[in-house]
Amino acid sequence: MPGIALVGTQWGDEGKGKVTDLLAEKTDLVVRYQGGNNAGHTIVVEGERYALHLVPTGILYPHCIPVIGPGVVVNPSVLIEELDTLEERGIETGRLLLSGNAHLIMPYHLELDRVTERRLGKNRLGTTKRGIGPAYADKATRIGLRVQDLLDPKIFSAKLEVALKEKNLLLTRVYGRLPLEQKEIEGDYLAFADRLGPHITDTDRVVQGALDEGKTVLFEGAQATLLDLDHGTYPFVTSSNPIAGGACAGAGVGPRDIEQIIGISKAYCTRVGTGPFPSEADPADGEILVEAGQEYGTTTGRKRRCGWFDVVGARFAARLNTLTELVITKLDVLSEFERIKVCVGYSYEGKRYDHMPPNQTIFNKCRPIYEELPGWSQDITGARSLEDLPKEARSYLEMLENLVDTPISWVSVGPSRDQIVRLQGAP
Ligand code: GDP
Ligand code: IMO
Ligand code: MG
Repeated sequence: MPGIALVGTQWGDEGKGKVTDLLAEKTDLVVRYQGGNNAGHTIVVEGERYALHLVPTGILYPHCIPVIGPGVVVNPSVLIEELDTLEERGIETGRLLLSGNAHLIMPYHLELDRVTERRLGKNRLGTTKRGIGPAYADKATRIGLRVQDLLDPKIFSAKLEVALKEKNLLLTRVYGRLPLEQKEIEGDYLAFADRLGPHITDTDRVVQGALDEGKTVLFEGAQATLLDLDHGTYPFVTSSNPIAGGACAGAGVGPRDIEQIIGISKAYCTRVGTGPFPSEADPADGEILVEAGQEYGTTTGRKRRCGWFDVVGARFAARLNTLTELVITKLDVLSEFERIKVCVGYSYEGKRYDHMPPNQTIFNKCRPIYEELPGWSQDITGARSLEDLPKEARSYLEMLENLVDTPISWVSVGPSRDQIVRLQGAP
């Protein structure tokens, strides 16, 4: 089995971590291809909860090589902290491979993420304040520092000087902040180099070599389709390409290397941060979803906004990612409801939209068109096969499958590894 991409189909936190973990058993390499420690992937193994931000979930399996690809932005101190925490919990981390081409998140990126959000005021994006946007911006304007620069102190120093000159002007003159010290940053980052050096390599060759040998490589998406920089709900998006197509650029493989593309979707929908959300639930239903689904961010602890499954968004994600299948997570959370809504289309100025509207004004102002289904109002966390699910839950899944026109392969009914229903054709 060669390349498998796993992507979020909504606004993130669909349960990608849990599904990657399920696949990791059969996987040789797990590659992160974009994003940084804005991600928060929770995995529950034998009652132990792991929250990973930067390290690919494959780290939890001794047979699996976790890879941080060139498309990721890396905060080295966060990476070291995450590795140390895993080691303390008995997880061996020496296998981790880190691309020398990945860009570094620098202290001024963190500072700029904070001050630009503040400046935007009510128009703020609600970023995770992890420096992601500023780091990708520097990559695009070609003044970024890369992981490999850590290995050459002279180059690191020269590049830092160029970048810092501009950043300090911005921080002091525009934002009224104190300037950052070159020597201090250099000291910290070159110490990180000692620790990370053994992990740094040409990961493109490793990943390509594994694919050539017929090994299974899982491309682990962070964030999700509707947060994609080019295709999401811009400007309320992240600064990378979480879509399956992004795996090629961000991991250094070709489109023909990816054979299976798994889209992860909650049985409802959530969003963290600001931005349009047509199927956002009314406060009473939203609160039930927050509590039953424990919808608090893994990275920032923020309460997630909650709403109903959005068929329009899911259809968009299915086509854009060329999904081969869909995994529905957190079906158990809907057990709280006597009636369940599904957003089957949008309406705006008397017109119905069954597909993503062509511009943001419509998406911002459209109203959801709901269909309602009866709920099942019973505990389904013990279900392990389709037959174990109440008929209302099966009808719900059938409806989603038909409307999104993508087969559902797995349904998750709880956070633990074993709380999963495998449907026909599951990997
Ligand atoms: P990710 O960012 O897509 O990996 O998702 P997160 O880890 O941020 O958020 C998903 C949350 O839902 C985590 O706390 C998971 O442990 C939890 N979770 C995953 N699948 C299920 C499920 O089927 N049911 C319930 N109740 N929780 C789940
Ligand atoms: P996982 O991988 C949910 C959101 C932020 C904000 C926007 C931009 O756990 O699904 P950024 O810090 O990336 O510049 O913030 O994107 N966001 C996420 N929302 N899950 C995530 O990751 C997210 N990563 C970023 O809340 O709205
Ligand atoms: Mg998350």
